[in-house]
Amino acid sequence: MAKIIALNWKLNPATEKEARRLALLSDKKGVVLFAPSIFLGSIAEKTTKAALGAQNIFWEQRGAFTGEISASMVKSVGAEWILVGHSERRKYFGETDEVVAKKLEAAARAGLKIILCVGEPWSIRKKGVEEAKKFVARQLKSVPRNVSLIVAYEPVWAIGTGKSDVPEESAAMTKFIKGITGARVLYGGSVQGENILRFLDRQEIDGVLIGGASVNKTELKKIFNQVQRSHLTSQNRNRELRRFQA
Ligand code: PGA
Repeated sequence: MAKIIALNWKLNPATEKEARRLALLSDKKGVVLFAPSIFLGSIAEKTTKAALGAQNIFWEQRGAFTGEISASMVKSVGAEWILVGHSERRKYFGETDEVVAKKLEAAARAGLKIILCVGEPWSIRKKGVEEAKKFVARQLKSVPRNVSLIVAYEPVWAIGTGKSDVPEESAAMTKFIKGITGARVLYGGSVQGENILRFLDRQEIDGVLIGGASVNKTELKKIFNQVQRSHLTSQNRNRELRRFQA
């Protein structure tokens, strides 16, 4: 299965015009673009290859909840994906595992494809990978039964810091998460053009979730160049294998 390149724009860019321009640069197969919801409808008109997603939803479908948006609203403007449980939502907006569980249920009911973010803070990771696994396992308990999703492993200390995880350690965490959930697992946290292949080329890791670098045009170009290289390498590898087996 092809690897996923998920782009999380966060609170960027400043205008709809810029959003449309950025979306064109990222409009490639295998890309899932998590844009601010207010731009999604407009971006949907511009993109043909990338899939679109929202960064947040409320768990109710309708009613007196000023300022919120629902899963079905997201779908109605042409987006199919949703991010749930991002560490910035947990940290700045007080989202607990209970809130995460409600959002997962609402998203699944509406038929959105879900990426659930999990990951430990540095205070835990500094005690070792085993402690980090326990933390992540607890976060995964919020996944309601019968909700299928993709998990993004994003160590909190690696997000926006320029300090990505050691690929061997995130690959080990990936395996651990797969063991619990059976889900596909992405890595996120300071992925850039310079280090993307260290994660993408690991067989256990099913893709990447990229924040800061996804709204930087120079980085974005580097990222797609590297992804292209990685496709070619894996095509060659498969060709070699077929020749060997023939
Ligand atoms: P970053 O963010 O790539 O800027 O570290 C990743 C994320 O928050 O998903």
